[in-house]
Parts: sequence; structure tokens; C-alpha cells
Amino acid sequence: MTGMQPVLVTGATGFIGTHLVRELDERGWDVRATRRPTSDTSALSDTDVKWVTADVLDAATVRDAVSGCRSVVHLAGIGLASGPPERVREVNVAGTRNVLAAADDAGVARVLFASTAGTRRSEGVADETDLAPPIGPYQEAKLSAEGLVQEYYDDGLDVVTVHPTSVFGPGDTEFTGRLLRTVTDPKLFASLPGGVSFVGVTDVARGMLAALERGDPGEHYILGGQNLTFPAALDRIAETVDGSSPLLEVPAPVVHTLGHVAEASDEYLGVRFFPFTADMARLATTELFYSSEKAACELGYDYRPLTDHVPAAMAWYRDTND
Ligand SMILES: NC(=O)c1ccc[n+]([C@@H]2O[C@H](COP(=O)([O-])OP(=O)(O)OC[C@H]3O[C@@H](n4cnc5c(N)ncnc54)[C@H](OP(=O)(O)O)[C@@H]3O)[C@@H](O)[C@H]2O)c1
Repeated sequence: MTGMQPVLVTGATGFIGTHLVRELDERGWDVRATRRPTSDTSALSDTDVKWVTADVLDAATVRDAVSGCRSVVHLAGIGLASGPPERVREVNVAGTRNVLAAADDAGVARVLFASTAGTRRSEGVADETDLAPPIGPYQEAKLSAEGLVQEYYDDGLDVVTVHPTSVFGPGDTEFTGRLLRTVTDPKLFASLPGGVSFVGVTDVARGMLAALERGDPGEHYILGGQNLTFPAALDRIAETVDGSSPLLEVPAPVVHTLGHVAEASDEYLGVRFFPFTADMARLATTELFYSSEKAACELGYDYRPLTDHVPAAMAWYRDTND
């Protein structure tokens, strides 16, 4: 791919972005990537990535970043762990609008947009067709961004949307860090009810590359992994790292009560402890399982089981926590 116009990756300094840029770099792609003045780019210092400073909320910097690129992978986005709900909306919706507008104006060949599997849900195993009412500001923002993507696609822009499920791997202090802490810290002995689709970050990066190269314009692809309950996942992780398995499962009603308490404090006391509503509490105790069948058939996507991803994640975790 060297010698061709570059691919622009927004959010390249993040968890998934770092792995995707590495994958593209190893395959010889010419990669331009956005960073902010405060970004830590050290994880990619041994790659040939060309950095450009841009904030997705600053349309002029986004236009400059996109200019001359063949395609754009738009990963920049934040969840509720990184900012208050208004900021989550702003970055995920206004930021995506700026990226789509710049890509459209520049006439890029394709935009790949990273939404979340959370905009789909079903009683059983959900697929791309199972659109569900969003729960919480993050899902609302991602669904709004998907609406923008649809508008630009209807107006002629080639856009493909991927929906990663719960991504596990080195570099993720949130989800992965919490799981690894649970199995290695003897003081943490409780696991949540419910479950998710655990997908390794390297599988997601390869799935994104496949969607960029082979996805059908306007289509959505779930990039998922192994569907496991939290107790089952923690057991497997613990066996792999020789840690201790959680002894207790927090009963779902306890989590639901926490959601109600947080909601009441918001509504009646005007105190925001954390953005955790009763609906989000219900979601946290549900089995959120997904099918990646469409990506498998149309993109050749495949994923490895959770335990295959544990050693690399654990090595990173020990490195950063020693
Ligand atoms: N991780 C998951 O399990 C998961 C699952 C489904 C979907 N996704 C989606 O996949 C994407 C990447 O997720 P991630 O886990 O890699 O996120 P992450 O680690 O939190 O990284 C977020 C990235 O976005 C950048 N960013 C944030 N605000 C920005 C702004 N205003 N302008 C420019 N860049 C900005 C960050 O740059 P700085 O380094 O400057 O902060 C960082 O590179 C997100 O859109 C997320 O919603 C993630």
C-alpha cells in the first residue's frame, strides 16, 4: 500500500487505534493518524505512522487531517468513563459529523466508522438487524452518529460501520484492567451476573481492516467474540493466569438497587455520583450476546477464544502495574 494515498485513523492513540495502526503498519499501509497535544503516542513510536494534530471537535483541523487521504477510519470517541454525558454526546456526535463532512468534501473513497454493538440488543443472540432503544448517553450518542452516517451514505458517501462488542486486550485499563484485577487481587472476590461477547483487540483490528477492504458500502458488521457470562469468563481468565476465581456473584437485584440509588441522587438531590441509571444497571446484569456471522460470511472475519488473548493482556497488565 506504500505509494498510495494514506489512510487516516482518528483515535489512533486509543486502545483499539493503537492495535489497528500497528496492523496497518505491519502490512505496509501508509498511515496518517490524528493525535492531540496531550496524546500519548509512545505505544506507536516504532511504527512509520505520520502524526497530524487534530481535534474532532475542531472542523478545520479535521479537514486538514483528511486532506489528501484515500480513506478514513474514524475511531475517536469517548465513553462515560472518560467524560460527562454532554461531552460524550459532543465528541461522538459532533465529532463524527465533522469527520464525515471533511471526508465528503475531500472525496475520500471510503469511511469506516466504529460504533458499538450496544446499539443492537435482543433476548437471545443479537445481530445487526436487532436495533434496540439506546440505554444511557453513550449508546444514544453512538446511535445518533449512526444516523449521521446513514445520511451521508444516502447522499453518496461510501461508509461502512463496524460494531465491536466488549474488547479485551493489552492497553485497556477499563474493561480488561478490571477483569484482570478481579482475578489477581485476593481482596476482590465478587463478579457481576450477566455476560457479554468477549473479543480480543487484535481480532477487532483485523476485522476493521477486512471491513475497510471488503465491506459493502452502507453496511453494518458486528465484530464480536466469545459469548460468556462474567463468572465463566473470570473462571477461564483465572485458570489461564493461575489466579483465584471470584467466589461470589453479586446478585442482580443489588446492582439494580445501585442503579436506582444513583438515579434518585441525580433527580432529587442534584448530586451526580456517576452516570449509572436503573436502565444501565439492568443492562449490566443481562446476557448481551452477539453473532458475528455476517462479518464471518462477508468479510472472512474470525475470532479466537478469550483464553487465547489472556497471556498478552496479562503481560501488559503486570508491566503497567509493577
Ligand atoms: N473498547 C471497546 O470495548 C469498544 C467497544 C465498542 C466500540 N468502541 C468504539 O471504538 C472506538 C475506539 O475505542 P477505544 O476503546 O480505543 O477508545 P479509547 O482507548 O478511549 O481511545 C479514544 C481515542 O479517541 C481520541 N479522542 C478522544 N476525544 C477526541 C477528540 N476530541 N478529538 C480527537 N481525538 C479524540 C483519544 O485521543 P487522546 O489520546 O488524545 O485522548 C483516543 O485516541 C470508540 O469510538 C469506541 O466508542 C470501543
